[in-house]
Amino acid sequence: MWNRLFKRAPREVMDLPVFQELDRSRLPAHTAIIMDGNGRWAKGQGLLRTAGHAAGADTLKKILKAAIALELPALTIYAFSTENWKRPPVEVDYIMRLFFNRLMQEIDEMDEDNVKIRFIGRINELSPALQELTQKAEDQMKDNTGVQFNVAINYGAQDEILRATKKLMQRVQQGELSPEDVNENSFDDCLDTAGVPPVDFLIRTGGDMRVSNFLLWQSAYAELWFTDTNWPDFTPELFVEALKDFGKRERRFGGLENK
Ligand code: IPE
Ligand code: IPE
Ligand code: MG
Repeated sequence: MWNRLFKRAPREVMDLPVFQELDRSRLPAHTAIIMDGNGRWAKGQGLLRTAGHAAGADTLKKILKAAIALELPALTIYAFSTENWKRPPVEVDYIMRLFFNRLMQEIDEMDEDNVKIRFIGRINELSPALQELTQKAEDQMKDNTGVQFNVAINYGAQDEILRATKKLMQRVQQGELSPEDVNENSFDDCLDTAGVPPVDFLIRTGGDMRVSNFLLWQSAYAELWFTDTNWPDFTPELFVEALKDFGKRERRFGGLENK
């Protein structure tokens, strides 16, 4: 039912009235999403928090399909933070199983959609089975040229920055890099997102206005967009609405107004 429904999603996005109002020449090169509010959505429906995560995975599929239809160059989603281990083990176990099952189900369709997946964060701390599957997914899609889809699991930006710093220090120690060559570019190359442009647009659902340790380096000049809508209720229509807003923002990067 799921797959039958969503093989058609790209066309559905293009049929949305809001899509016609979108200036496609002003789309972000890199969009990042903090998918928050699964638990609160579930509570509102009288369901367990875990049901919120399952509904959230359904939303993610719709939004990825929209990104494919819109030909967004890069999309990074926050799926599990280094701080989320503080949650009850039953919830953490459920989320990890959900990643495994959904990824397993979706690999081939993402591949058919020309998606190129990458997992960012401390992937080596996930279960061996999940690590194997993430590797398989990356390998299978490595030559694809469509949406660069980064999934942050066991990800924390401070942790990523520290790991990048250690990598840089090692390169300097081994004489591959001189200390003078430590700059924004060589630092970028050591991040999990190496090769992906900086985040232009950061969306957070669920009503909180904070970045919760997500892509701190990469979002230095990101435009921020918040909505009270909980992630399971987020829609391709709202996504296009957000992108439309992005197109109207005047970005100065510390310079003067663009004339
Ligand atoms: C986001 O939703 C998903 C994860 C952090 C894994 P939450 O689970 O944080 O939902 P709320 O914020 O408690 O509603
Ligand atoms: C951010 O949501 C992490 C993810 C969406 C994976 P949280 O629910 O963990 O953030 P806080 O705790 O409200 O800052
Ligand atoms: Mg939350």
